[in-house]
Formats: sequence, C-alpha cells, structure tokens
Amino acid sequence: MRKKIVAGNWKMNLDYNEGLGLFSEIINMFKDEATGKQQAVICSPFIQLHSLAQLAKGYTNVAVGAQNAHQAESGAYTGEISAKMIKSVGAEYVILGHSERRQYFGESNELLAAKTDTALKNDLKPIFCIGETLQEREAEEHFNIIKSQLVEGVFHLDETDFAKLVIAYEPVWAIGTGVTASSDQAQEIHAFIRIEIAAKYGQEIAANTTILYGGSCNPKNAPELFAQPDIDGGLIGGASLKSRDFIDIVKVFN
Ligand code: 13P
Repeated sequence: MRKKIVAGNWKMNLDYNEGLGLFSEIINMFKDEATGKQQAVICSPFIQLHSLAQLAKGYTNVAVGAQNAHQAESGAYTGEISAKMIKSVGAEYVILGHSERRQYFGESNELLAAKTDTALKNDLKPIFCIGETLQEREAEEHFNIIKSQLVEGVFHLDETDFAKLVIAYEPVWAIGTGVTASSDQAQEIHAFIRIEIAAKYGQEIAANTTILYGGSCNPKNAPELFAQPDIDGGLIGGASLKSRDFIDIVKVFN
C-alpha cells in the first residue's frame, strides 16, 4: 500500500525562531491528534533543517525535507547546498522541480534529472513536482507537458530508484492563487500520471507510488481532493504556515 503523505512547503517564509516555533506546534498537535496513518513532512528553508530534524527525532511519522538541492556532489558553487549536506543534518526528503524553481531559476527537465540522480545517490527521497501553466492548460497541452516532465525528469531512473520518489502534481495556475483544481481535474491528471508510470515501470510500482496534489489546498477542500482514488495526499504551501490548518489537512487521513 502506498504511503499517505501531507507535506508542507514553507517556501522562503519564517526566520529561524519563527520556524522552530511553528514546527514545535505542529509536532505537538500531530502527537495529540494524528493517528499515524499518514506521514507529515515539513520542507523548511535550509537554516532550520538541522534543528527541525532534531525535534522530529522520536516521531516516526514526522520527517523534514529541503526545498532544493544542487546537482553536483560538491565543489566551487558559491552559495549552493548539496544533497550530502542536506542528508547530513537529518533531512529525509527534498522537493525538486517546484514550478517556482522552474520559473524563476530556469530549472529545466534535464537539470532536474541530474538533481534527482544526485539526491537519490545521497539517500534523499525526492518529492518531484510537475504541473502545467494556465496557458498550457488553455491550449490543451497539459497532458503532453506532464508527460514530458516525467519522461525527461525521472523516467531515466531504474525501478529501484524510481520507487523511492514521491510525485507531486501542482498545476501552476492553482499555486498561491486561491483557485484550486477541482477534485475531478486533479483526479484526471493523477490517474494519467499513474497510467504513465505503469506503462514505464509496471502496475506494481505504479500502485505503490505516492502522488500528491498541490495548489491552494486547505482544510476545506482537502477532504474532497484526498478522497479521490489517485490522490495520496498534498503538498501544502500557504496553509502549512498555520499549525491548525496544516494539522487539519493531515487529519483528513485519520
Ligand atoms: P499554495 O498551497 O500556497 O497554493 O502553494 C502550493 C505549493 O506551491 C506547494 O509546493
């Protein structure tokens, strides 16, 4: 059975102490209110990762992750952070291919394939993000875009490595806009993703792949989204910055 995951992406929000405060609230609420049928993952800015990983010790269903990692193992890349560094502070996950990285930092599918390889080599689990823009959806290109992001970004992996991935479908037009995809729209793409995975890696791997939905997900719309057969949780932006909202989304899987 595939894992149900609710992951928070804090993006570039919260200073060091604010992040620690929010995370403490989240793990206390998780301990009291969640049944453990789900995994919670917080993807914080780099500066908090080590401290959050320490706080998360002892909670088997709470993990922390980074929001990006460099494709090289190490070297003269001033200002960058490597997958090995991230792993060394106790993080388990790393978001790769977020649309904000694709859009503002020019990250291509080819670059993301290299980042995925390096993350996996260093024993991090990538949360690999894919999704179409509004323009692409209006041009009815969304299935092609999703497919090429998969083929060029992660379908070079062998079965063992692919099985370590979490996929996140985040329609760009739903991110931070308050406009969420309808549960039917999201399910349609999630089912398509799973069919593509099955065609490449077989039914068993497809059935075991966790596919998250992201884009204006909140405690109100999460129950209907997460009730869809191919939606296995969420990648939460804005609502992950409020402990109550985040935990209420986590509790959809109780
Ligand atoms: P919002 O939940 O703020 O729309 O952000 C979604 C997202 O980008 C998560 O990675």
